[in-house]
Amino acid sequence: MTPHVLITGGNKGIGLECSRLFLAAGYRVTVIARSTELVEDHPNLTLHPFDLCQIDQIPALIKQLPTIDVLINNAGVMFSLPYDNYPADKAATLMKLNIEAPVALIREVSRGMIQRGGGRIVNNASIAGQIGHPDIWYGISKAGLINATKSFAKQLGGQGIIINAVAPGPVETDMLEVIPEPRKKAIKAAVYSGRFATASEVARTLFWLGTDSPDYINGTCIDINNGAFPR
Ligand SMILES: NC(=O)c1ccc[n+]([C@@H]2O[C@H](COP(=O)([O-])OP(=O)(O)OC[C@H]3O[C@@H](n4cnc5c(N)ncnc54)[C@H](OP(=O)(O)O)[C@@H]3O)[C@@H](O)[C@H]2O)c1
Repeated sequence: MTPHVLITGGNKGIGLECSRLFLAAGYRVTVIARSTELVEDHPNLTLHPFDLCQIDQIPALIKQLPTIDVLINNAGVMFSLPYDNYPADKAATLMKLNIEAPVALIREVSRGMIQRGGGRIVNNASIAGQIGHPDIWYGISKAGLINATKSFAKQLGGQGIIINAVAPGPVETDMLEVIPEPRKKAIKAAVYSGRFATASEVARTLFWLGTDSPDYINGTCIDINNGAFPR
């Protein structure tokens, strides 16, 4: 039977690169995003338009989908707004998309994985969750996602589920459009190679954790930061 991966935000940036890797590996790929059109056509690729901020509707969404073997919680948003002038509705949207939706998806998707005796889940967090961030809610949400990864591994690891996270530094995608140029320059100066990560570099790590990484790597977060946070 063809394995099935659900990738949130699998239509753009890092998520799109991840969708391509799973398609190339023979997976059936379901993408969840607000967009109603995909940039590419593939017989194994399905777009399910859905706004992930509708947390209450996530259980019904998962019930509609075929059995999920791998969940990639990738969709996320950063507004890059100052903490003392952050509209409450923006903060609420960010926290819903970046932390409540992944947690709800893990809860719903893991039910079937437990019944079948296993599955893999990968969460796209950020270095922001480790070292802080000018968008305070972004940093908080990503720290929460790293912590949720560990908490869920404690709950689900004994039931055959492998759940890990990645914490990339800045990656060349549309998300960086809101970062001012001087900050971009400073970030590049603080890494070994003087450049941002590519979407492909992060996607390859998500793919590995979703498919082939050793089972003993569970409940961890892999740094992808090129020296920005060596430890
Ligand atoms: N780029 C970076 O520097 C960087 C660094 C570290 C971590 N990350 C993390 O990597 C992940 C992907 O980021 P990216 O850089 O690839 O960003 P991106 O190119 O802006 O893509 C964001 C994705 O999320 C989807 N999305 C946004 N709001 C949504 C909603 N309400 N419901 C459903 N889907 C929604 C978007 O699709 P639609 O617009 O069609 O909804 C899009 O596919 C994020 O979690 C981000 O925090 C990024």
